[in-house]
Amino acid sequence: MADATAPIGVFDSGVGGLSVLGEIRRRLPGEALLYVADSAHVPYGEKTPEFIRERCRAIAGFLLEQGAKALVLACNTATAAGVAELRELHPGLPIVGMEPAVKPAARATRSGVVGVLATTGTLKSARFAALLDRFACDVQVITQPCPGLVERIEAGDLHGPQTRALLEGWVRPLLAQGCDTLILGCTHYPFIKPLLGELVPPAVQLIDTGAAVARRLEQLLAAEGLLNESGNMAPARFFSSAPPQQMAAILPLLWGEAAEVRPCPV
Ligand code: DGL
Repeated sequence: MADATAPIGVFDSGVGGLSVLGEIRRRLPGEALLYVADSAHVPYGEKTPEFIRERCRAIAGFLLEQGAKALVLACNTATAAGVAELRELHPGLPIVGMEPAVKPAARATRSGVVGVLATTGTLKSARFAALLDRFACDVQVITQPCPGLVERIEAGDLHGPQTRALLEGWVRPLLAQGCDTLILGCTHYPFIKPLLGELVPPAVQLIDTGAAVARRLEQLLAAEGLLNESGNMAPARFFSSAPPQQMAAILPLLWGEAAEVRPCPV
């Protein structure tokens, strides 16, 4: 039986979920954190749902062995493919997934045109189709898959000419169609917000879901009596399925400080 001092297990296909981990750290600084980057298998966006489900099962199993009291799928693509199965496999365990912020974007748009930048896997999923049916009846939603972008961000290229050229090619047509609200539907993308801000007019809103995930996690933990309210800053521990030095090299850029990265054995 988990207790409030147990860690929260967070995972993504790679380092993108660090954008969500940062929001969790800001909102819940007393929580110990475990983070798995499945960088040996990034990007998930071009993989089959079956493959992603298998990775979700394996990583969730590892995080639970490490004593996690809750799981966060800090990945839209993994949530679309795997969160339902994880909830079936682990009834009673607080599990938070995430999906593109269609509902807040539909509320925020003035032009009535919303763009969604996300992975091919997320945009093709039944979960995303259901999200549009539910919340986007009154607005036009233009979806834009971004193959190759996750790899640029994994390489730490947040502002270089290759990343800029990719983004320009996707964003320009969206703006031409009247889009005034852009959903960042992949957890890697908040890291390129400064670059995106240079490519869109200031009136265009960029919406992501990290802060909402941290709020939802807090609610679930509170409901289960699992919030760690000690007030002490708890540690974050990092694991990667790729050679750990890769993630260790990029942590100062994306997490703001260096840390040890251990191999993830699954
Ligand atoms: N960061 C992930 C997401 O939120 C997946 C990126 C990928 O591996 O393709 O969708």
